[in-house]
Amino acid sequence: MANPLVTLRSATQSDIPVIKAIHSYYVLNTLITLAIVPSTDDELLSKYKSITSQGLPYIVAVDASANSAIGYAYVTGFRGFKGGYKHTVELSLFCHPEWRGQGVGTLLLKKILEVLKEPGTHPEYIVNPGSDDLRVRIVIACISVDEAGRDNALDLKQYYQKFGFELVGHLKKVGYKFDQWYTALGFTSPLLLTCQGSIPTIYSWPSGEGF
Ligand SMILES: CC(C)(COP(=O)(O)OP(=O)(O)OC[C@H]1O[C@@H](n2cnc3c(N)ncnc32)[C@H](O)[C@@H]1OP(=O)(O)O)[C@@H](O)C(=O)NCCC(=O)NCCS
Repeated sequence: MANPLVTLRSATQSDIPVIKAIHSYYVLNTLITLAIVPSTDDELLSKYKSITSQGLPYIVAVDASANSAIGYAYVTGFRGFKGGYKHTVELSLFCHPEWRGQGVGTLLLKKILEVLKEPGTHPEYIVNPGSDDLRVRIVIACISVDEAGRDNALDLKQYYQKFGFELVGHLKKVGYKFDQWYTALGFTSPLLLTCQGSIPTIYSWPSGEGF
């Protein structure tokens, strides 16, 4: 349920230390990210600058009572936004561990999809507006399957599906952390932008269930 004390805004450089603390928690304690070493302030700052300079949103949820970030969502160009991938981004979405299950992730996810769909109507979330030629058409979310985690991470699958994401791929045992191999699941968002040109059906996907 949405918490009335939580607001959203565009991230600023001063949020980096809190973002680092949130991300480090998941790096050090979970399989949600397969990063092994927490990012440094400089790495996070450089990523922040790269994202915002590309006209992409980097959003924080703020606990208004403490005026501190408690979650964040951003997207990065899939495969470096190169060539034919320039309309596809990959999502990162993290809530402070003590703020999970209180509607913060939902607020962030809804907002970032809204902003990506209609960037022109959300100038407060786009630091450097890009050209129309760089509009985002599809968002990829990738999760690793922690068989010891909540419902084998299938709750996250349902979570993304609630927002219209579709499970489109299993990358079996591609990740290694805490002495085990992990499978990654890939989801794609509904189309945020209708482009001209047909999308060929290369082959039919299997049902995609199970891993
Ligand atoms: C996944 C995440 C962003 C969801 O945000 P949230 O604020 O905790 O979730 P909300 O309160 O908005 O929504 C709760 C729903 O999320 C589902 N959910 C999925 N995974 C969850 C988790 N690990 N913790 C809490 N809720 C989770 C719940 O089932 C719940 O569904 P319901 O509303 O039908 O009961 C957040 O829990 C989080 O940061 N988790 C760790 C990082 C992560 O998994 N990021 C996504 C993959 S990169």
